[in-house]
Order: sequence, then C-alpha cells, then structure tokens
Amino acid sequence: MGDPRLLRVAKAVVEFDTPELHELVADMFETMHKAQGAGLAAPQIGVDLRLVIFGYEAVGARANVEPVPPTVLINPVIEVLAPDREDAWEGCLSVPGMRGVVGRHTSIRYRGLDPYGKPIDRFASGWHARVVQHECDHLDGILYPMRIEDLALFGFTEELFPGEDVADD
Ligand code: NI
Repeated sequence: MGDPRLLRVAKAVVEFDTPELHELVADMFETMHKAQGAGLAAPQIGVDLRLVIFGYEAVGARANVEPVPPTVLINPVIEVLAPDREDAWEGCLSVPGMRGVVGRHTSIRYRGLDPYGKPIDRFASGWHARVVQHECDHLDGILYPMRIEDLALFGFTEELFPGEDVADD
C-alpha cells in the first residue's frame, strides 16, 4: 500500500494463450501460495493488466468456507444480484499484517475469460463472492482499507486476533 501502481485502473488483456500470459499466471500462483493467500491481482505484483487469480481449500483459517477451485479470471465483469451486503474481516497481501471489516455484496455473477480466452461465467455468494469483489477492486485501484466504513474495525492482525492462524488474503 502506497505504491502508485496499486492505484491505477488496469488495462484489458488483449492477447491470450501467449507464453508471457502463462508465465504471469504461474508467477502469481506461486506468490499467492507462498503467502497463503486466497487471491491475487496482477497490479499487486506491478503488472498493469486486468487479471486476477483466486482459489482455496477449506483448511486452516478458511476451514469454514466453501472451497473454490484455482481460477484465473481475465477482464472480469461483476454483476450484483441482490442489494444485500455483509460485513466481514478482510486482509490483503498488499497491506500485510492488518485486517479490516468491509461490507461486500453477498450474491454476484461474474464473467470473464481464462488464459486461453475461453469464457468463465459463475454465480457466487458468501466468501467466494467477497474474494472476487476484493480482487477485482485491485483492477480499479481500490484497496480494501478504502472501503472500510468504521475505522475502529481496522488494525493489526496480531492485536485483533492474537494467536490465531489468519492469512493475509
Ligand atoms: Ni488484496
């Protein structure tokens, strides 16, 4: 947080199934797994493209959520399906060691392309929907602290959740 590359509106991907694109995706999965994150957006590693990855198993800090398979989502579009919002704690690999409560839409449809240019079209709710909204925000230069409504609910993970296994999503 503070790096101006995180504040840009990222550019659409126009070429698919290229060695450069596959290498970028592989780099991103490696970065995400090393950090035990649930998602990552290309701008977080300094790449100005509309590409996010996400996916997680129901283990550790995410033991109580529905698992989501490893997904690469390019040029995403999110459609909000219901006005409901839900507050929950979020973290971010670009804001290490901190957590904050953010309201997110509970039910969405998201569309985009995979690295081969094939369409992806899914419905998501709950934590899946939250992760997609968080990652896609990165493509518009939005970090989750910008969406915190009550800054009393923002702080250091080790103070908020002492001794707990909480990943920097
Ligand atoms: Ni993030």
